[in-house]
Amino acid sequence: MKVLGIDGSPRVNSISHRLLEIALEGAEKEGASTGMLRLREYEIPPCEGCVSYYGRCNLQECIGHNGEGLKDLFDEILSSDVLLFATPVYWFGPSGLLKNLIDRMTCLEHEEKLLDGKVGGILCSYEEEGASTTISQLFLALSDMGLHFPPYAYTYNRGDKIEQDTAFYAEQLGRNAVMVAQCLDGKRWWRR
Ligand SMILES: Cc1cc2nc3c(=O)[nH]c(=O)nc-3n(C[C@H](O)[C@H](O)[C@H](O)COP(=O)(O)O)c2cc1C
Repeated sequence: MKVLGIDGSPRVNSISHRLLEIALEGAEKEGASTGMLRLREYEIPPCEGCVSYYGRCNLQECIGHNGEGLKDLFDEILSSDVLLFATPVYWFGPSGLLKNLIDRMTCLEHEEKLLDGKVGGILCSYEEEGASTTISQLFLALSDMGLHFPPYAYTYNRGDKIEQDTAFYAEQLGRNAVMVAQCLDGKRWWRR
């Protein structure tokens, strides 16, 4: 069982990074191996929109279209059972770093449902307003990409100190995500 944390904050030692660490510690308590991708360390050119209006969009083409730097990142994503996404709220939505990755992940679901049945979770950090819109946006996209969400599949923290309750939710999220992935045992859900 492999759990991958995807850190969408451009800041070093960010709050969302810490939330993700707590969730990964939870996952390890359930026996999973864990890894962390820090998106700020990758060159991710923006999606070129090949898919729009019945165009082609698949892994090979996407890597061919300005995506060489994405190869390792996609390998990590595809070899993981659980994907936990962490982001600060930027203007009521996810950070540009994470949104950019989500756009490019279109090639993992459009022609072939390569993410089907993986388990997801969302962690987010904010100061004033916008956690629920951010989480909703991510839920919509990731569910459409075939991810399966456990109960209590998200958490959010306000401000620069992590509340005890939020830490509890983050750890529980990591644990539950692993337990759901174990129950699903690689089951596929796309029926066409
Ligand atoms: C470009 C930008 C936009 C932001 N927009 C919002 C926002 O809409 N709502 C909010 O509550 N905080 C907003 N913030 C504040 C961050 O969400 C907040 O500082 C967060 O805790 C940082 O998380 P991190 O430590 O994981 O990077 C914004 C910050 C930046 C840099």
